[in-house]
Amino acid sequence: MKEQLISMAKQAMDNAYAPYSGYRVGAALLAADGQIFTGCNVENAAYSPTMCAERVAFGKAVSQGCREFTALAVCGGKDGEINEKCTPCGVCRQVIAEFCKGDFPIYLTDGTTIEVRTLEQLLPEGFCL
Ligand code: THU
Repeated sequence: MKEQLISMAKQAMDNAYAPYSGYRVGAALLAADGQIFTGCNVENAAYSPTMCAERVAFGKAVSQGCREFTALAVCGGKDGEINEKCTPCGVCRQVIAEFCKGDFPIYLTDGTTIEVRTLEQLLPEGFCL
């Protein structure tokens, strides 16, 4: 499953709208019912309205009635080249914590290997975690 989620996150990167940073990110979120919601980053000329790939995926899922999740995969890189792990930003970590427990697995890739981190590892002592 982690390979499938990373593969779907990579596909979602293709849709990234990142004309300002050139940094393309994809996410694939596995819901408890088996549905998979993907997301990509969507940038904006005013910068701050930019939406991260992870939050797009969570927004899609929650807006379609899903609130229970099993795993998340994230990948990204400058110009779409995955050379290092793309870890969720602080805001995304807090959003993940809204719906997921500390043991929630987050799959990351440097383009070669897949590593897993728990939400607790990425957001230690997080608010309401
Ligand atoms: N980005 C994400 O999509 N997810 C993250 O967790 C980190 C950052 C995006 C936002 C922006 O479009 C680009 O990466 C560079 O920061």
